[in-house]
Amino acid sequence: MPAITNIYDLKRIYERRVPRMFYDYCESGSWTEQTFRENTSDFDKLRLRQRVAVDMSGRTTASKMIGQDVAMPVALAPVGLTGMQHADGEIKAAKAAKAFGVPFTLSTMSINSIEDVAEATGAPFWFQLYTMRDQDYVSRLIQRAKDANCSALVITLDLQILGQRHKDIKNGLSAPPKLTPKTIANLMTKWAWGIEMLQAKRREFGNIVGHVEGISDASSLGAWTAEQFDPSLDWNKIAKLKEEWGGKVILKGILDAEDAKMALKVGADAIVVSNHGGRQLDGAVSSISALPSILDAVGDQVEVHLDSGIRSGQDVLKALAMGAKGTYIGRAFVYGLGAMGEKGVTTALEVIHKELDTTMALCGETKVTDLGRHNLLIPEDFGGRWQD
Ligand code: GLV
Repeated sequence: MPAITNIYDLKRIYERRVPRMFYDYCESGSWTEQTFRENTSDFDKLRLRQRVAVDMSGRTTASKMIGQDVAMPVALAPVGLTGMQHADGEIKAAKAAKAFGVPFTLSTMSINSIEDVAEATGAPFWFQLYTMRDQDYVSRLIQRAKDANCSALVITLDLQILGQRHKDIKNGLSAPPKLTPKTIANLMTKWAWGIEMLQAKRREFGNIVGHVEGISDASSLGAWTAEQFDPSLDWNKIAKLKEEWGGKVILKGILDAEDAKMALKVGADAIVVSNHGGRQLDGAVSSISALPSILDAVGDQVEVHLDSGIRSGQDVLKALAMGAKGTYIGRAFVYGLGAMGEKGVTTALEVIHKELDTTMALCGETKVTDLGRHNLLIPEDFGGRWQD
């Protein structure tokens, strides 16, 4: 196998190995995919300031996210259906994250359950919560996350209703895949994936199936979100959830400075500047271009993280230098997982770490915590020049 030198090498293997339905699920944005594309292309607009003749020895990428030590400030983002990208995908990704020393976030819409991941890793991971109409179910979910020693609750705010991703509808996305002539034809070319999947601990939504009743199709993300997600989620409810949880809370899906101020008011421990990887409101600005105005509004009062668009350690560095205290990778780790299981996630983390470390050195910095806007050349109109 040729050497894997960047995230896109993993993506190529991933595309060959995993059924089309799940590749498409990962690799889609909503509607025209403008926001999905700009999440990555806007990173290219930022330039790095090269500095020389600086002693580069003793470099470290170690830092903290919500007070927890991290080997680098790059957490694994919550990604739905991860256990369909590779058998026991959430367990494998969580193990790789633990060994590397970065946080793993388990999605409510995962295949492996909270209990599966807790039992397999023994590590305190973060749990991402979608709020449901069924309040009892939400309370039980929160209790399950407490029982599993999850060390932060990540509440997603930008998905009360699902953004439309054309391919998922056309592919009839479901977990496990429904056997139609089209899916069977594709699955026959993915035998290595299939053999492992036959031995997987689970092939259905592990936090849901067996824990809730009265949904028409528990295998369909679309049906589940339409029937069960709570469309009335508001700041009052968020404050109540925070109280019920009683631990660290990260509010994910903030793209506007006004919402960042509201998140501050409800006492978030951190916010994640995110547009859900371009999967929700198409036409919204990229996360990295929204970051400066949010930092200017609340950055000295709450820890600000960023996801959406990170595919390299250079992207991580740009977000940190802008002022974010932490970042998340979603697709970048899924490419590795789909390509090579746990080893692939480790490889993705190693690739990103090396890019971050080398870039930091060539920018004349030895500590990731010393990065700042002085390391960047930011175009004057980077946040967009919009009318009031
Ligand atoms: C769910 O979180 C999704 O983006 O599909």
